[in-house]
Amino acid sequence: MKIINIVFWIGCVLIGMASFRPSLPDNGPYVSPSVSADTVKIDAETGLINDPNLMMVKSQCTACHSSKLILQHRFTRAGWLERIRWMQKYHKLWDLGESEKVVLDYLEKHYGPQSGEAKAAFRRAPLKKIQWYKLD
Ligand code: HEC
Repeated sequence: MKIINIVFWIGCVLIGMASFRPSLPDNGPYVSPSVSADTVKIDAETGLINDPNLMMVKSQCTACHSSKLILQHRFTRAGWLERIRWMQKYHKLWDLGESEKVVLDYLEKHYGPQSGEAKAAFRRAPLKKIQWYKLD
């Protein structure tokens, strides 16, 4: 077999391999869906708990950094306000105006130290009535 034939067939195989792509289903435009973990609705885009105030929190609080900075913390309302003031002082966070209350309502409700819905997404409550026993 001539060298030109070998080159030709290798070329055919390579082109064939390159043009074979499994077709992916077209799911249409991306809309941020909600996935449900037990009773807590989590926003798939940010991982934050879904709630009517979430849109405001997303627009005010995820422009500079990931929502993970919210997810990693639990503060009281005063604690969250303190963080906001801190970002305003040192990190060019703007005046939230009337949306400050909406954002704080949301953060206090879902990301407070004891907020009900966040518990499921964060940690379990401390165990009560532990029965200790001696190992032999
Ligand atoms: C203008 C930009 C900007 C916006 C908007 C912003 N932040 Fe921040 N935020 C920062 C910067 C910068 C840091 C420091 C990041 C670091 O330490 O790596 C930060 C840190 C944080 C932290 C961590 C604080 C700590 O003690 O470590 C939290 C929590 C937080 N932001 C929450 C929020 C919330 C809630 C909002 C919405 C009200 C918000 N951020 C909006 C800039 C911003």
